[in-house]
Amino acid sequence: MIEEKRRHPADDLLSALIRTTDEDADRLTHTELRATTFLLLVAGHATTTNLIANGVLTLLHHPEQLPALRADWTLLPGAVEEILRYAGPQVFSTRRFTTTPWRVGETDVVIPGGGETVMVALSAADRDPARFPRPDTFDIRRPSPSHMAFGHGIHYCLGAPLARLQAATALNSLFTRFPALALAPGADRTWRRSLITRGLTRLPVRVAG
Ligand code: HEM
Repeated sequence: MIEEKRRHPADDLLSALIRTTDEDADRLTHTELRATTFLLLVAGHATTTNLIANGVLTLLHHPEQLPALRADWTLLPGAVEEILRYAGPQVFSTRRFTTTPWRVGETDVVIPGGGETVMVALSAADRDPARFPRPDTFDIRRPSPSHMAFGHGIHYCLGAPLARLQAATALNSLFTRFPALALAPGADRTWRRSLITRGLTRLPVRVAG
């Protein structure tokens, strides 16, 4: 794709990154260009695609909340946060490695030190009843404390503001343009087979009543 865009530059992000590399080599090396493209695709594209589809599915599963949203789009940022909490695309964080023995909460479970792998279940944290009352209830008006869908701490998602903006723009456009949008009755939806991500490969919908 990089070679193709190099031959036929267009008004897009990859062409701009290539221009930077070709015209000003001290700013992005070719390896950095490949790495950045990879990062944008894996960390930035698939995740946001999944957020939009998870949002469409969740909202269509809760049609009673759609009229309020359509009547007052200022509810949308809160709805996006609730989608991130309830159906966030990133189920686990990337791997962490212990440097010292670590006791899990108030339990007897101790993870040994010395480089044991730890995977943090972000989605489980986001259904923690101690933090979110009625955690399995989807509510676009939930006055939520912050969720873990974008991770936490030093590796907190770099693209969170962009992802929020993209999801809000997509959901607003879709639900405005297709007022009768609904799940296609009887059609199969399929999920990605992945431990790490929660995302659909197929979500059949009906756009007209
Ligand atoms: C809904 C969309 C997104 C979700 C759910 C998401 C989720 C996450 C999570 C959970 C982490 C932390 C991983 C960890 O701690 O192990 C993370 C990190 C990161 N995300 Fe996102 N992300 C999204 C969109 C994006 C976008 C649009 C970009 C860039 C354009 C992006 C770039 C990154 C980068 C660079 C990191 C690593 C930050 C670091 O290690 O310091 N993400 N993301």
